[in-house]
Amino acid sequence: MSLKKIIIIDFGSQFTQLIARRVRELGVYSEIISHKKKINFSNKDVIGIILSGGPLNVYQTKKVSFDKKILNQDIPVLGICFGHQIISKELGGKVKQSKFREFGLVNIKKNKESVLTRNFFNKDGKNNVWMSHSDQVTKLPKNFEKIASSTNSKFCIIQNKYKKFYGIQFHPEVTHTHNGIKLIKNFLFSICKSKKNWSSKEQKEKIIEEIKTQVGHSKVICALSGGVDSSVVAKIIHKAIGKNLTCIFVNTGLLRKNEEIQVIKTFKQKLKIKLIYVNAKNLFIKKLKKVNDPEKKRKIIGNLFIKIFEKYSKKISNIKYLAQGTLYPDLIESKSVTGSQTSKIKSHHNVGGLPKKMKLKLVEPVKFLFKDEVRKLGEELGLSKEILYRHPFPGPGLAIRIPGDIDENKINILKEADNIFIKSLYKYNLYHKIWQAYAALLPVKTVGVMGDNRTYEHICLLRAITSEDGMTADFFNFKKDFMQDVSNQIVNSIKGINRVVYDVTSKPPSTIELE
Ligand code: XMP
Repeated sequence: MSLKKIIIIDFGSQFTQLIARRVRELGVYSEIISHKKKINFSNKDVIGIILSGGPLNVYQTKKVSFDKKILNQDIPVLGICFGHQIISKELGGKVKQSKFREFGLVNIKKNKESVLTRNFFNKDGKNNVWMSHSDQVTKLPKNFEKIASSTNSKFCIIQNKYKKFYGIQFHPEVTHTHNGIKLIKNFLFSICKSKKNWSSKEQKEKIIEEIKTQVGHSKVICALSGGVDSSVVAKIIHKAIGKNLTCIFVNTGLLRKNEEIQVIKTFKQKLKIKLIYVNAKNLFIKKLKKVNDPEKKRKIIGNLFIKIFEKYSKKISNIKYLAQGTLYPDLIESKSVTGSQTSKIKSHHNVGGLPKKMKLKLVEPVKFLFKDEVRKLGEELGLSKEILYRHPFPGPGLAIRIPGDIDENKINILKEADNIFIKSLYKYNLYHKIWQAYAALLPVKTVGVMGDNRTYEHICLLRAITSEDGMTADFFNFKKDFMQDVSNQIVNSIKGINRVVYDVTSKPPSTIELE
């Protein structure tokens, strides 16, 4: 099954992913392709092309690749910012550095009616849009006409309606552009004649079919962590190939309270997915004994995890594939253009070092999905909201929430404190307002008084943050009664903690985790 799709050609804009999101939000499947790659038009599945913005100048011909075939396919093309400038240049117009650079909100006015701008302008024929450019189109290519302009840009929206080529100087994909989504909607449905083909149900069916085609009757293993991505991956592969999937779940002893019990209950007992449970708790604690350095801790945990995973996967005969929960943002290839974007560092739970050594091929069923799409797919697959909307949890687990060396006693104390904190968030209806929350155990002891007795115990640090993607974060503003309740519960019920503090730093300068 080949889905009709919109191709987004990435010229390195920070908003390229956002364009893909908007198209998909409107229910149309889209894919991002680097400007350095050629599009395959032979399948006839490309029904529209969007050219992204980017930091380059259209005359930097050594750095900018533009496949001229795009303009000879009888397929509608929409250029955004740099994309608008490059189609103008390629079709014989002129682009120049402008005396007036435009960054931020700009008021534009309508010069002509267009299918693209239906329902976009206000009643007075104006609209506020978000610009970010220093170059601009100064001469239109042949057969193009001006649809909108601003005081400083003559050609804010242009079109060649016969060829269905459109150019927009501003960014319709950002929310600051009022009604920007209407432009994208008109391009998709009125100009490209797209049909909605990207609901969770369709995604599920497409992915299941792809897994079946890729894997056939071969066997697949999957490292299950209990988090959103690996849970959805396991569930959908199981739907596709049933018994030929085996999951391996390693209990590092560094998981949240009772997490291993929940994972076994869900996957083995409820979903009936073949699961190898490895209790490696003692091994991890032994290897981490007296290790203080955060990076050493991470490395020990990562390497041990891979070793255990490898050992148990060898026990299953004839495995050909390793399943991974790679997501779309991990795949985007725009980094080469600006040199400023770097790919995310993968945690050991993605077992990235394995396939080469074990000669396994990869199955990455959700590699074209964003995180929220993975969650929706999970719902479509019947996974519980508890699994799908859980706060992120780091691969090295509680080890990086106990600065310095760790031992079983510290881990047990922390599990209890964390459990109280998280349960209270649910009780006060705060859990889903927070991006991530956890308790940590600080390796400092302070004096307290309980009853008439002096205590000398550890400090528990609470952290709760709001964030979009974990790259930046702000601390969550709790009310006093919540903090008081949690603090009382922790100090009164957990032996080993006599003081609770709240982390009020943002990221940056701090990170979300302590190590
Ligand atoms: P930091 O501490 O870098 O955390 O601000 C950002 C987000 O990443 C998570 N995190 C990890 N996730 N393996 C993971 O799977 C890791 O090694 C790891 N380290 C940090 C962290 O929990 C937060 O959500």
